Amino acid sequence: MRDRVVVITGASAGIGAALAELLAAEGARLVLVARRHDALEAVATRCGPHAMTVVADVTERAQVEAVRDAALTRFGHVDAWVNNAGRGIDRLASMLTDEDVDEMMRVNVKSVLYGVQAILPHFRARGRGHILAVSSMLARVPFAPQRSAYAAAKHALVGLMANLRVELAASDPEIAISCVHPGLVDTAFAANALHATPGATTFGPAQGADEVARIIADTLARPRADVYTRPEMQPLVVDYFGAPDLGAFERAMFGPGHGPRR
Ligand SMILES: NC(=O)c1ccc[n+]([C@@H]2O[C@H](COP(=O)([O-])OP(=O)(O)OC[C@H]3O[C@@H](n4cnc5c(N)ncnc54)[C@H](OP(=O)(O)O)[C@@H]3O)[C@@H](O)[C@H]2O)c1
Repeated sequence: MRDRVVVITGASAGIGAALAELLAAEGARLVLVARRHDALEAVATRCGPHAMTVVADVTERAQVEAVRDAALTRFGHVDAWVNNAGRGIDRLASMLTDEDVDEMMRVNVKSVLYGVQAILPHFRARGRGHILAVSSMLARVPFAPQRSAYAAAKHALVGLMANLRVELAASDPEIAISCVHPGLVDTAFAANALHATPGATTFGPAQGADEVARIIADTLARPRADVYTRPEMQPLVVDYFGAPDLGAFERAMFGPGHGPRR
């Protein structure tokens, strides 16, 4: 990744911060984006002199465009744009409000659309580039019903990215489009979820943010369309979508006596 210019949203904590430090150690030049100034600066300090920060709310299109402008002003070009910022929810589908759904779509889907539309003209002009989105296993399998609208938003995100990939395969084949699907990761994601109960923590065995960051970095180095941070989970996704009777499959996995796998 030496000298490659990478924009990372959601870089003030968790997976984004781990990715920033890893890429900095590999010699990348970084544009770190999040809302919390102090946390972002602390990450940038750990990354060294080739990291710049832009405080921005990725749910605001104009602020995402300002990220692109700041990156181009400082580095002259961008090689990769990592859409990592995201937020969960802790509310069952039957209880969701309009505001819940809107917030999940804004922060998990529209933020990525803004990033895509901000950087694509630059990538087209250069004839290359890489747009990566951090998705979730919940975009594939309903392991955690309390994540309801978050899971739905990540499904929408994956659909958006797949359609973008097919669009660009015809018009701009040198621009790579990737989705990375983590399972549970040991970050403050659960505590930061909308409607999270105070002190909420990740339940079940979680992957470390550093390990997830390594897989994202590897995806940047060798672009692939769809990457599972726990590859052993992919056969389950194949079985789920290949099941002749999806309802029966879900009852067997999650029904009475089994409980949702988390
Ligand atoms: N942790 C998991 O179990 C897990 C599993 C699967 C997928 N993921 C995905 O991984 C990604 C990173 O999550 P994480 O686990 O690292 O969570 P996290 O620790 O809560 O970090 C979220 C990051 O996103 C930023 N962010 C949130 N809303 C933002 C906004 N409106 N504008 C700009 N930045 C915003 C936060 O920074 P500020 O608060 O400073 O803005 C923070 O840097 C997310 O897309 C998440 O959906 C996580």
